[in-house]
Amino acid sequence: MNAWLITGGAGFIGSNFVRMAHERIDAKLIVLDALTYAGDLARIDDILTSSKVEFIKGDICDTELVQSIFKKHQISKVIHFAAESHVDRSIFEPHAFIKTNVEGTLVLLEAARKAWGDRQDACFLQVSTDEVFGALGPDDPPFNESSPYQPNNPYSASKAASDHLVWAWHHTFGLPTIISNCSNNYGPWQYPEKFIPLMIFNALEGKPLPVYGDGLQVRDWLHVEDHCEALLTILEKGSAGETYTIGGNNERKNMYVVNMIADAVDDITGNPKGTSHELIRYVKDRPGHDRRYAIDSSRLQRELGWHAMFVFEDALYDLVGWYIWHKEWVDSVRAKDYSNSYKKQYGDI
Ligand SMILES: NC(=O)c1ccc[n+]([C@@H]2O[C@H](COP(=O)([O-])OP(=O)(O)OC[C@H]3O[C@@H](n4cnc5c(N)ncnc54)[C@H](O)[C@@H]3O)[C@@H](O)[C@H]2O)c1
Repeated sequence: MNAWLITGGAGFIGSNFVRMAHERIDAKLIVLDALTYAGDLARIDDILTSSKVEFIKGDICDTELVQSIFKKHQISKVIHFAAESHVDRSIFEPHAFIKTNVEGTLVLLEAARKAWGDRQDACFLQVSTDEVFGALGPDDPPFNESSPYQPNNPYSASKAASDHLVWAWHHTFGLPTIISNCSNNYGPWQYPEKFIPLMIFNALEGKPLPVYGDGLQVRDWLHVEDHCEALLTILEKGSAGETYTIGGNNERKNMYVVNMIADAVDDITGNPKGTSHELIRYVKDRPGHDRRYAIDSSRLQRELGWHAMFVFEDALYDLVGWYIWHKEWVDSVRAKDYSNSYKKQYGDI
């Protein structure tokens, strides 16, 4: 049976993708994930027993394992999500980022090259980030497929390095690869150290809401399901050797998002209006913090017909409800590896 290899499928975006692909795609889904602190099988619990899904706990840096997967299954597509993904952690512990994001990508590319030979109907899709392009000034046009790479932190540098490997494997060896660079995702099942779930849970628990610097950094928020739709569209209609930039067209200042979350939490829990706003604390900015990211997705819209469907403000309000409903899951993943890194990031607030 035709099979797709999905790395990092127990993570935030990967798990949303596995669920969508399980519904829509007639292929076996091989999910390879090391289950680091960020990975959790509860995210795909509902489909793990499906005969279409096979989960393999393992490291993408393990050459023998990765090659054995290509030998055992007829892999026609690799959708590569597995990564160390948190910028703050990359500042404290950069080695793991170089190991997984760079070396792990190399192992996958080499395994695909050996297994596929000259085959051109396969696809290696590298799921990357807009952070590889660096930061925008307030009046700069959004990033697009022609933007030069200028990564500013260890995470984005490691992703940029892996994107370059992917491009080189296409250019030198003819491997059918595609790179997608997307903006910040939000949605269900995100690890609670990330900005939006962190603010939601601190507000719910009456803890300080730590805002880096002046809070006026701008991010272009993309709903994770819009992102997964875009990836399926690229896999279906995209061309090898191309890059596609994916954004939600939702540029928002961090403070705006924090205020929206505070309002939503007060509204949903019945707190008097303004209660959660009093929890906002400005903390020392993250070193090398990029000021603004934004993405121009017009090529993806024009050429492949993809459009973002979610309205940011409505989806964010619903998401607060989703996290309240899934508090037990959040508590279980926070129990794994949370408080140490939280303290390193925000100190003793
Ligand atoms: N979250 C975002 O906003 C965002 C935006 C742009 C791009 N991306 C990219 O999308 C991908 C997925 O991001 P995410 O937010 O879902 O990340 P995540 O941290 O939630 O998940 C990463 C997954 O990879 C697994 N993993 C880590 N190291 C591994 C290894 N050595 N071998 C096998 N599995 C390993 C983890 O266990 C986890 O399940 C990443 O490549 C990231 O760079 C994310």
